Amino acid sequence: MLTPCELRTARLLLRFHKQEDIPALVRLAGAREIAATTLNIPHPYSEVDARKFLAESAEDFRAGRTISFAICKQPGGELCGGAGLAISETHQRAELGYWIGLPFWGMGYATEAARAVVAYGFSNLGLHRIHAHYFAENTASGRVLEKIGMRPEGRLRNHFQKWNRFIDVENCGILSEEFQEAERARRSESEPARRSDVSGQGE
Ligand SMILES: CC(C)(COP(=O)(O)OP(=O)(O)OC[C@H]1O[C@@H](n2cnc3c(N)ncnc32)[C@H](O)[C@@H]1OP(=O)(O)O)[C@@H](O)C(=O)NCCC(=O)NCCS
Repeated sequence: MLTPCELRTARLLLRFHKQEDIPALVRLAGAREIAATTLNIPHPYSEVDARKFLAESAEDFRAGRTISFAICKQPGGELCGGAGLAISETHQRAELGYWIGLPFWGMGYATEAARAVVAYGFSNLGLHRIHAHYFAENTASGRVLEKIGMRPEGRLRNHFQKWNRFIDVENCGILSEEFQEAERARRSESEPARRSDVSGQGE
């Protein structure tokens, strides 16, 4: 059973989606570049797609299958992307996914949000393992996952077909104790710098 919550990081608020997000979702998730390296974001992306996404994520949340966050800049609350976990309760694991709107690329937001979601998955949901996959050519996503401590787990050749091309896929994952260890190391490296880690609310 999932409980509603918000996650805060140094620069971001991760909260549940609301109807007011729809115009920004259509504009940002609708960019070709977002669909190009993801499997489940349609292109073109219409208001109907955004409404469907909101309805399905609310239903999946109620069923305990997924938790999806809108990533918002702080202060101000401007929506800049999305992140979430698809949960397998049976196996105490989840798959991480995320995207950041084109105007906000290269500012470290994906790394900050992904780290917060993974921390939430381990600390609040009691997961044992979190994994992710990315198109092999998507080096930015590979780097995000590497920076949050995920380990490579192998390449699946021509695993997906996207826009009439076969795509190689890289898999990676992290176990709860590995993440705690990586976070301890990161914190001690940045000491006495101010904390930039996540603070979860709820649960
Ligand atoms: C992948 C994505 C989420 C990255 O978002 P972002 O906020 O720009 O990522 P960050 O700024 O946190 O970090 C990106 C890292 O990748 C590096 N990077 C960015 N573009 C790169 C490129 N073309 N080649 C290699 N590295 C790249 C950055 O330098 C940074 O690493 P660094 O801190 O060591 O310099 C964003 O490009 C995106 O939304 N893409 C479309 C959707 C998608 O692919 N989602 C992931 C599906 S698995």
